[in-house]
Amino acid sequence: MSLLAAGVLSAAEVNVYSARQENLIKPILDQFSEQTGITVNLITGGADELITRMDLEGANSPADILLTVDVGRLHRAKEMGLLQSVDSDVLMSSIPEQYRDSDNQWFSVSLRSRVIVYDKDRVDPGELSTYEDLADPKWDGKICIRSSSNIYNQSLTASLVSHNGVEATEEWARGLVSNMARSPQGGDRDQIAAVAIGQCELAVVNTYYLAGMLNATSDDQLEQAQAVDVFWPNQDGRGAHINVSGAGVSEHAPNRAEAVQLLEFMVSDEAQTWYAEANNEYPIRTDVPVSATLESWGEFKADPLALEQLGIHNAEAVRLMDRADWR
Ligand SMILES: [Fe+2]
Repeated sequence: MSLLAAGVLSAAEVNVYSARQENLIKPILDQFSEQTGITVNLITGGADELITRMDLEGANSPADILLTVDVGRLHRAKEMGLLQSVDSDVLMSSIPEQYRDSDNQWFSVSLRSRVIVYDKDRVDPGELSTYEDLADPKWDGKICIRSSSNIYNQSLTASLVSHNGVEATEEWARGLVSNMARSPQGGDRDQIAAVAIGQCELAVVNTYYLAGMLNATSDDQLEQAQAVDVFWPNQDGRGAHINVSGAGVSEHAPNRAEAVQLLEFMVSDEAQTWYAEANNEYPIRTDVPVSATLESWGEFKADPLALEQLGIHNAEAVRLMDRADWR
């Protein structure tokens, strides 16, 4: 390599605005830097905070990539004009169509499902069936689920709007609210803990939270997680609700080429294996194996809905959850 080329390489950098925990993303970014010589400047923050920051910075934003969880947020960033289209054969061939924006402004890099977990001792899984069934009065006072301000619940509700319409989904939300064991509080792990201590019989949680607890070093979390089992909803119909972590290249990216290179790296074998193993997420690429914990839950049918629909129906979902008094 000539001195000139080396000089050019060492000057290359990419600025990542990341809403993911640093310990989940830093090792992948370090590998990328090692392989390419591109320096990664990582700015970590809350998703909504980073989106607002990009918006305020406008054309002067140093952000090259926005990396976050939940399609609702990726879609919001797109609608705000913060992202740009990326034309990449690597991304197109690695990421199934339902998991990319139709204008190629955001791309999923890992998957998770929002599932029902149930108390192994008190619930007969034969009684469980669909998300819709959670509104059935037979679950009166038995369900724990977090707040409607949580984007995962907004996206789940948006998926129901996509499939069943606003009216039916509002009725569903009312039924679900009346079946809650307690007023929504805490995160997904807290819902699992609440089932474990008998406050409720069912909870609705993202897969990686339960997997994380099953692999926790703390005995408390492990015991709580072992009190429940996973139920894959809607397996006789459309399949279980899917959400993602994903990323897009920012509209004003000062380092566009490096940003695309990093996005492509995120669907590489190494990065995909990291997501699978370190965070118990489902790889976006079907040819990368899942972690042992996810493997133990078996295969399941995933809802084939184009995920951008979750973003498109987010506002309707939020309004109907509010009307249904989902706190
Ligand atoms: Fe999460």
